[in-house]
Amino acid sequence: MSAADQNDGAILFTEEEEGEVVKSWNLMKKDAGEWGLKFFLKIFEIAPSAKKLFPFLRDSTVPVEQNPKLKPHAKSVFVMTCEAALQLRKAGKVVIRDSSLKKLGAVHLKYGVVDEHFEVTKYALLETIKEAVGEMWSPEMKKAWSVAYDHLVAAIKTQMNELI
Ligand code: HEM
Repeated sequence: MSAADQNDGAILFTEEEEGEVVKSWNLMKKDAGEWGLKFFLKIFEIAPSAKKLFPFLRDSTVPVEQNPKLKPHAKSVFVMTCEAALQLRKAGKVVIRDSSLKKLGAVHLKYGVVDEHFEVTKYALLETIKEAVGEMWSPEMKKAWSVAYDHLVAAIKTQMNELI
């Protein structure tokens, strides 16, 4: 179990934690594509081999940072983590339409994404948000994003494991 507490199976994600995610996201979202790109370049800096997972990077002659297909995935990770935070607060769990969650599980399994990739991605996500929000960054903000990301990834991994 992550930092979030359990209460009759429901995850307690406080109004303050939700607030931390929302205020930082509001600051970043107009440049989400650019931050998303930085975010993934950080991942590839730490784990260059992760590039091989993305077919459009593998088969491309364009430099990674100019690949137009990278931004949408990066933005999805941001947006879905943010949505997960909102749902944790409202519903006490990550709510993603069943079919979408199944698809997310299937896609990540198919492309060979493993625990280490999710971990590096978490680190890079937090570093990117820290850079984006500047002085607004705080331990509370870091914790709120971490908890939301951990729960979202746990939901994706549950689906991946069901397919193995
Ligand atoms: C595809 C979200 C983490 C690698 C996707 C898609 C989404 C998504 C929405 C498109 C699925 C579709 O085809 O409909 C997320 C979320 C993540 C996450 C929310 C974490 C919370 C990761 C990580 C890696 C990764 C850690 C590897 C470093 C890929 C690859 C694809 C993919 C290789 C398929 C190629 C592509 O369409 O971009 N992901 N992802 N993802 N993801 Fe992720």
